[in-house]
Amino acid sequence: MLHEQIASALNEQIKLEAQSSHTYLAMAVWAETNGYDGTASFLYEHAEEERMHMLKLMRFVNERGGVAAVPPLTAPALDYAGLEVIFQSILEHETQVTASINAVVDQCLSLKDYTTHNFMQWYVAEQIEEEAMARKVLDKLALVGGDRGALYLFDRDILSLAGTSGA
Ligand code: FEO
Repeated sequence: MLHEQIASALNEQIKLEAQSSHTYLAMAVWAETNGYDGTASFLYEHAEEERMHMLKLMRFVNERGGVAAVPPLTAPALDYAGLEVIFQSILEHETQVTASINAVVDQCLSLKDYTTHNFMQWYVAEQIEEEAMARKVLDKLALVGGDRGALYLFDRDILSLAGTSGA
C-alpha cells in the first residue's frame, strides 16, 4: 500500500507528465503550421512519449493500492517565436521535470518506500536522455544560426540529429 505522501507525489508527477505531453502537442501544431514538418513529427512523437510516462505512473499508483489522478491541465502557449524558443523551453521544462522526479526519489528514501524508489529509477534514467536531447538540438540550432538552407536541413534531419527516434 502506498504511503499517502508518496501517492500524492506520484499524482503530482502524473500531472507534470500530462502537462508535458499537452505542451509538446501545442509546439507540434505550431511547427506543423509554420512549415517545420520534421520538427512537428518529432514533437508529436515526443508528446506521445510523455503520455506513456504519464500512463506508466498511473498504472503503478493503481497497482499499489492508490488511485491515479486524472488532472486538469493548463492551456499551453500556442504561438512561438521560433525553433530555438521551443527547444529552450523544452530544456527548461525537462530540467523542472528532473527536479520533480528527484524530489519523489528523495521522499521514497525518507519514507523507506524501496519499491517506488526502484520504480522511479526508470524516470531518473529517462531524464538524463531527455535533457541531453534538448541540449543537443539547441547546439545544432546554434550552428544553424540564421542560415535558411541549414534550417531546412535541420528540420529534415531532426530525428537523427536529436540522437533519438523520438520514441
Ligand atoms: Fe516525461 Fe520529458 O519527462
